[in-house]
Amino acid sequence: MKTRNELRFLLNGQAVALADVRPDETLLDFLRIKRRLIGTKEGCAEGDCGACTVLVGRLQDGRLAYESVNACIRFLGSLDGCHVVTVEHLKRADGGLHPVQQALVDHHGSQCGFCTPGFVMSLYALWMRDAQPSDQAIEKALQGNLCRCTGYEPIVRAARAISSYGDASADPLAAERDAVIASLAAMKDGARVEIGTGRERLVVPASADDLAMVLEVEPQATIVAGATDVGLWVTKFMRDIAPAVFIGGLDALHAISEENGVINIGAGVSYTEAFGHLSARIPPLGALIDRIGGEQVRNMGTVGGNIANGSPIGDTPPPLIALGATLTLRKGTVRRTMPLEDFFIDYGKQDRAAGEFVEAVHVPVPDRATRFAVWKISKRRDEDITAVLGAFNIAIADGVVTGARIAYGGMAATPKRPKAVEAALVGQAWTLETIEQALAAFETDFTPISDARATADYRMLAAKNLLRRFFLEGVEGHVPLQVSRYEAA
Ligand SMILES: Cc1cc2nc3c(=O)[nH]c(=O)nc-3n(C[C@H](O)[C@H](O)[C@H](O)COP(=O)(O)OP(=O)(O)OC[C@H]3O[C@@H](n4cnc5c(N)ncnc54)[C@H](O)[C@@H]3O)c2cc1C
Ligand code: FES
Ligand code: FES
Repeated sequence: MKTRNELRFLLNGQAVALADVRPDETLLDFLRIKRRLIGTKEGCAEGDCGACTVLVGRLQDGRLAYESVNACIRFLGSLDGCHVVTVEHLKRADGGLHPVQQALVDHHGSQCGFCTPGFVMSLYALWMRDAQPSDQAIEKALQGNLCRCTGYEPIVRAARAISSYGDASADPLAAERDAVIASLAAMKDGARVEIGTGRERLVVPASADDLAMVLEVEPQATIVAGATDVGLWVTKFMRDIAPAVFIGGLDALHAISEENGVINIGAGVSYTEAFGHLSARIPPLGALIDRIGGEQVRNMGTVGGNIANGSPIGDTPPPLIALGATLTLRKGTVRRTMPLEDFFIDYGKQDRAAGEFVEAVHVPVPDRATRFAVWKISKRRDEDITAVLGAFNIAIADGVVTGARIAYGGMAATPKRPKAVEAALVGQAWTLETIEQALAAFETDFTPISDARATADYRMLAAKNLLRRFFLEGVEGHVPLQVSRYEAA
């Protein structure tokens, strides 16, 4: 195996080669401390506020796509072969402001200015892929940016106006595209990157097969995909993650395809990458993904990481369990596939051996005979962690329930199916009376806890009400109530 002992990436207009990098070194610290690029700010250091937003361009299948990411939880080890663009790169040759910046100034979208570079970068990413964005697209792009001063209306007004200040296709980043693609392609030398030893050690495997080999030799290594969980282990809990193996750039794990009614999602597929396919084929999953974190977190975070972390409040496991998904794990050359629900053994305990990694999840598209829905309950609509999440996949024939797969998050130590509730539904007439009778079975299935997100009583009531809602939304003439947007009167 060809190896290399330095990371290589582009930073704005410069090639960077680093032989001395810690596995837990964040992009934000590198930019601010080592490169004095202090336009990128640190607000929360946990991926919430967006003050640290930069763009990362990655080459995949010859295509270069830029995404907004949170530099505070992005490790340098994940940047091999990427193009990092910071707010400093927007400066015009004549010292003038970039169209995004000028629009924010003119529409009073900045006051203290601390959040502004982050907003600029999020809006820049949006403008380059959609020069005339809808209000919905603007709100989505800004879900991961918080401002304490302006209120969001002036920022949204600025976002609507950017194209009147300049032409996105003439932007330097668009004009430099071919040269950047050539530079990044030249960096892809097919080598495994290995830097440091012991607590300083990081590895970037060359391929998925190479990852399998690396984990055979170093089974205790921390696998880092999008780092939207692992990043916080470092910035909030000061945990040692060495040796760290960075898998975010492995093309094979980014594949998403459909075969015989089953969607195969590689473990490295980000929420943003999954959104197009899933929202087209299983629309409730698209709506759910839109509520995971903010845009930066969705650009980094992966479905595989959401499963592998074993959290009882991860948003994707319950709907995938309800859909009957299976999970493929790989250790060396050996693969095994299991029902997704069997992966979650107990709190903090999953059916994954040392040196084994999640390779893909396989999701059957529900057929016409079943109705599928998933709802997330959290204190805020956007960028908030789930208190309770319910997913329902129920088959009804001639007014009788012929199959029920239900799964909840936030109700137990793992994502869990309420088997007693399911049993109380199957074989019964699909009526409100059946639902009301089945509700008692929730007490058999769940003993939820009280914590900062919700009390046990609230969780139980919400879980029951979600089942009621599933029934009511299927009743003809019923108008579902869903707040998806707030508008000023
Ligand atoms: C601001 C913010 C908002 C968030 N909002 C939400 C939300 O709304 N809903 C939600 O569910 N989550 C949310 N999260 C949590 C997080 O984004 C998700 O859990 C995400 O899916 C994790 O994926 P990742 O690729 O970033 O995982 P990482 O952080 O890279 O890894 C997470 C864990 O999985 C392991 N791992 C990763 N990939 C593999 C693999 N292929 N094989 C084996 N192990 C692996 C890692 O070792 C680690 O233990 C949020 C996080 C942040 C910072
Ligand atoms: S500093 Fe708040 S998201 Fe990074
Ligand atoms: S302008 Fe002050 S935080 Fe946004």
